[in-house]
Amino acid sequence: MNSPIDDALNNPQNLGEMSGADAIGTAGSSDCGDMLRLWIKFREEEGRRVIDRATFQSFGCQTAIAVASVATEMIKGKTAEEALALSGAGLSAPLGPLPPMKIHCAQLVEGALKNALTGTPASPVAATGPTLRDSLQPQQKLQIKFHS
Ligand code: FES
Repeated sequence: MNSPIDDALNNPQNLGEMSGADAIGTAGSSDCGDMLRLWIKFREEEGRRVIDRATFQSFGCQTAIAVASVATEMIKGKTAEEALALSGAGLSAPLGPLPPMKIHCAQLVEGALKNALTGTPASPVAATGPTLRDSLQPQQKLQIKFHS
C-alpha cells in the first residue's frame, strides 16, 4: 500500500503555471536551496472572496511537491485569511507527520503561500522573472528565513 506521500507524488494535483492568476508567491529554502512558486485564483462565493484554485511549480524536493499538491487542494474555498492561518504542519497534515529533516519542505510551501497572499516578499527572488526557472539564476543567493 502506498503512503500518502507516494500517492501525492504519483499523481500530484495542481502542478504547473496558471495564466491569469490573481496572486503569485515564491519562496526559497535557505536549508537546501529548493524553490517553490504558487499561483492563486480567487472567486466570489456568497459575498466572500475565496480561493478558487491554486497551482504550483517546484524544482527539487519531492516532499515539497507532495505538500504543495495537498496544500493546493486544501486551500480551495478558503478566504485569504483562512489560508494564512495554516502553518506548514497544517498544510502537510494529509501526508502524516514529516521527518524532522523534511519539516522545512512544508515551510517552503507555507512561505510561498504567505508571499502570494500578503505580498510580503518571502524571498529575494520573489519579484524576479515570470517563471520559477527564470528565478533560478546561479548568481542569486537564497537567504530565506521562515516563520517559526
Ligand atoms: Fe528542501 Fe525539501 S529538502 S524543500
